[in-house]
Amino acid sequence: MNTLKNGEKWYDADGNIIHAHGGHMLFCDGYYYWYGENRTENNYISCYRSKDLKSFEFRGNIITTDTPTAGYRVRSDLALSHTDADGKPRKVNLERPKVLFCEHTKKYVLWAHYENGVDYSAARCAVATSDYPDHGFTYHGSFNPFGDMARDCTLFRDDDGTAYFAAASRDNADLHIWRLTRDFMNTERLVNILWQGEYREAPAIFKKDGKYYMLSSYCTGWAPNQGKWSVADSIDGSWSLLENFGDETTFGSQPAFVLPRDGKFIYFADRWGGSIGYNESTYVVLEIKFDGERPYIEYSETAEI
Ligand code: GAL
Repeated sequence: MNTLKNGEKWYDADGNIIHAHGGHMLFCDGYYYWYGENRTENNYISCYRSKDLKSFEFRGNIITTDTPTAGYRVRSDLALSHTDADGKPRKVNLERPKVLFCEHTKKYVLWAHYENGVDYSAARCAVATSDYPDHGFTYHGSFNPFGDMARDCTLFRDDDGTAYFAAASRDNADLHIWRLTRDFMNTERLVNILWQGEYREAPAIFKKDGKYYMLSSYCTGWAPNQGKWSVADSIDGSWSLLENFGDETTFGSQPAFVLPRDGKFIYFADRWGGSIGYNESTYVVLEIKFDGERPYIEYSETAEI
């Protein structure tokens, strides 16, 4: 059995390095499906699955430069690569992929942050769907929701099936939350604008005892910084003031997502390779504990899954 250590490379059941950065998990038919960024070769997003969260089976690269594309409603940009002025192909960036199952359409719907591969000026969201959790995805393109910027992002599905997309907007200064349409394919309405001028990134939302929590980081690129938490009675209501989560580098990590599991809440985060190299990025996984409403983490060398 794998002993998963925080900040060390993790390997799948075939012995290959797990690339699932900026990721997300979806529990489905007895498996935890883990989606995340994979920047190797022509890959964008990988999928692994596990029953016990100790051993991970690689299921495939679900979005690559060769993924089939199909437009859907929005007049969106379907390109999954570009040609540079010198004629060389250039990958785009697809970051922080998140996947939900839509009850109404029976589709697995993936949202991510799109950039053009040259700089971070596009600030768009991107959408893909499949009939299966781990293969068969079609890419539906990228767009700016209601013309707004959308960078670091997350998805959250409430108990009543309503889904929300939250992303850093206005050049990362503010955090926007949009309610999604019933098919999870588009933003339907901007329902909140949070923390104007606070530059919150890497949002991760979870619900505990009827309250909504959001973890986020400050905006310092690949360098870790002080995490913060906030709580609200409703997604579109008033959120509490930001308070510290973890230490001044959030134990060298930036939030990816929070996994609710058997009454516990697990903080899944990235420790980015930064200047050493993106593919050297690792994971930090800690159990979130609560002091009343205050969520907190304590560092442990072993991943607390
Ligand atoms: C981080 C962000 C990452 C990635 C990176 C690029 O702040 O959380 O997802 O976009 O910047 O520098």
